[in-house]
Amino acid sequence: MKEKVLQKFEELFGSADGVNVYFAPGRVNMIGEHTDYNGGHVFPCALTIGTYMAARKRDDRKLCFYSMNFEKSGILESSIDGIKPEESAEWTNYPKGVMWAFAGRGFLMDCGLDIVIYGNIPAGSGLSSSASLEVVTGYMLKDLYGFAVSNIDIALIGQYSENNFNGMNCGIMDQFASAMGKKDNAIFLNTADLSYEYAPLVLDGAKILITNSNVKHKLVDSKYNERRSECETALKELQEVVGINTLGDLTEEQFETYQSAIQDEIRRRRAKHAVYENQRTIRAVEALKKKDIALFGELMNASHVSLRDDYEVSCEEIDVLAEEAWKIDGVIGSRITGGGFGGCTVSIVKDEAVDTFIARVGTAYKKRTGIEADFYVVDIGDGPSRL
Ligand code: GLA
Repeated sequence: MKEKVLQKFEELFGSADGVNVYFAPGRVNMIGEHTDYNGGHVFPCALTIGTYMAARKRDDRKLCFYSMNFEKSGILESSIDGIKPEESAEWTNYPKGVMWAFAGRGFLMDCGLDIVIYGNIPAGSGLSSSASLEVVTGYMLKDLYGFAVSNIDIALIGQYSENNFNGMNCGIMDQFASAMGKKDNAIFLNTADLSYEYAPLVLDGAKILITNSNVKHKLVDSKYNERRSECETALKELQEVVGINTLGDLTEEQFETYQSAIQDEIRRRRAKHAVYENQRTIRAVEALKKKDIALFGELMNASHVSLRDDYEVSCEEIDVLAEEAWKIDGVIGSRITGGGFGGCTVSIVKDEAVDTFIARVGTAYKKRTGIEADFYVVDIGDGPSRL
């Protein structure tokens, strides 16, 4: 992959002398969905697929971007001065947002860049291609300009730019997973204070399988932002009756005691999901530590049901994938992963059932939806690096 981007770089910019190539991964979340902006826990891991970036400083203040995923756009040019979101800037609004967010923290670039990127995360799959692009940009800036930031800072800057430059009110999970990934480990992150621990996710006799529904429904970002504000309102209503900072502060029992303070039935279900999903995530990690993988799987399934019924971020296609997976012997757990409204499911499947899973779920999905699903057996990788 490194050679591929370097070759493109040379083709576009004359030579590849002095070019550095960077990589940042995408992520899959095992459990803890829509909890990260509710002060709850998440349990994602970095993948070995992600975004590659070749970059070299220029001797003027221009920015020249090229993506091997959007070849038709050609080289998109702008400047390090006056960076602002622009529709015509297309995908470069992501790296530019990160540069803008660095500048806002006093980290000023003194010259422009030539950049070539290539991403091997399937488009629209919900495996965090945008977070990986933000993190690879932050990591490159740190390395090339000597900006003194940690990988956690890079994650926070990425989230800040996505929220304030690109208008997507995401939580910290995706950027954190990409920036802090560790091979063979998932990250148990408490989003209330960013404390975290790594938990080995080496499954004896089982694999992590991602199934791509190959659908992405419209208005994902606006529905996401809507869920977020529903939870904020529910929190305010609960704060009238109980002293909490986030929905993640509540146990299930406490939620049941106070839930009548939430004035609206839909909001009550949204908040219920946030509270119960957080507790499920804590329990799932405990189960994993005790090697009780069966319980981990049951909690994954329960997570799906809650996202489908209470949080309403699933969709017909994704529900078909989960239902068909649950029918198969050797499937330990299966659920929607990521923001929702399409994208992927994540499943834990016994080694001997992987082929059956792919054949049966693939056929049933095609029959019921007319769409071809894609399957990836996943390796858990490290965070960003210079290659
Ligand atoms: C998207 C967001 C994350 C998180 C998930 C849902 O991936 O970017 O911050 O909220 O959805 O868990």
